[in-house]
Amino acid sequence: MFEKLMAQPADKILALMQSYREDPRNTKVDLGVGVYKDATGLTPIMRAVKAAEHQLWERQDSKVYTGLTGDPAFSDAMIALVLDDAVPRGNVAAAATPGGTGAVRQAFEMIQMAQPDARVFVSDPTWPNHISILNYLGIEVVPYRYFDNETRGVDFNGMIEDLKTARKGDVVLLHGCCHNPTGANLNSAEWDAVIAALQETGATPMIDIAYQGFGDGLDEDAAATRKLAASVPECLIAASCSKNFGIYRERTGLLMAVSADSSATALNQGTLAFLNRQNFSFPPDHGARLVTMILTDATLRANWQAELEDVRKSMLNLRSQLASELQRLSGSDRFGFLAQHRGMFSRLGTTPEMVEKLRADHGIYMVGDSRMNIAGLNAQTVPILAKAIVDAGI
Ligand code: LMR
Repeated sequence: MFEKLMAQPADKILALMQSYREDPRNTKVDLGVGVYKDATGLTPIMRAVKAAEHQLWERQDSKVYTGLTGDPAFSDAMIALVLDDAVPRGNVAAAATPGGTGAVRQAFEMIQMAQPDARVFVSDPTWPNHISILNYLGIEVVPYRYFDNETRGVDFNGMIEDLKTARKGDVVLLHGCCHNPTGANLNSAEWDAVIAALQETGATPMIDIAYQGFGDGLDEDAAATRKLAASVPECLIAASCSKNFGIYRERTGLLMAVSADSSATALNQGTLAFLNRQNFSFPPDHGARLVTMILTDATLRANWQAELEDVRKSMLNLRSQLASELQRLSGSDRFGFLAQHRGMFSRLGTTPEMVEKLRADHGIYMVGDSRMNIAGLNAQTVPILAKAIVDAGI
């Protein structure tokens, strides 16, 4: 039977990660996959994670199954981190998932169960795996305008116009902060207008929040998600711990289904448990347990927040260094958007051919749509990248 399989297209981000690994040039620069790297190029284990692992090793006395939706303490801690007190806890059903991608996948399946003909509106562009999973599940994808290639900001009027064509029963997928792949984000007034459009159309929002703490701060990055959750009758939120806890390979995420009142929570919770059981049974526990320990222990939490703040500021510094080096070399302000963008990524806004030229000539790896992982830079590589961009005539 296997001969009937059709070869699947490789995921572009992961294929790029592999090409980078295989490139023998020692001057190569990896701006591909979204992992944080420190000034030495290492993706470190965060101090609080190491400390929690140490405590866990000493104290944990069983690896018996948790629950189908994970340890409720993890849900409580993550709901508080993402939503604070925006909605009553009793209105939120939640399930631990294998990473943020697991939460996204379960959310799409829940949508499909609830509303088989739902269309999912996605930003143009969005994280490519959103579209890939939606296509795989056979869910109709409707792109809405988002990135303005001229300004490298958000095409807000286009976005609102497109969102107004959504109907009740449709889902609008939004990035809670640090838009991936563009780095261009909505301001607070624009979020208000998006919320108003959702209220007007009755479409259900789904928020993917994978970079909380990487943009303007933990609370600032969750502000839109909190406001939205408090303003609409129901929403889905897929949260990832991969980046802000640096536990990529532990596959730690949470899917939240928020309702306007608690009467729907039991049904939603049962649905999330069912979906977990069908897809992988119990979610991974190790990363979730570390996150719970960190979020509920004052010392570990302070240590984590301090390091996360350093990570965030280092990315902001790299952004301003790159923007000013480009300004110096090009004698123009056209790269100022790099300092305005937030999160790990910025879309340079150039062609796939130019991206390929940067890779071939300079060993600079960015995703084909010209998404750069800003955290892949350091003080040495910022001038190299800036020169390559200007020399290429971008
Ligand atoms: C990315 O966008 O690079 C990350 O979210 C990693 C991934 O799985 O694609």
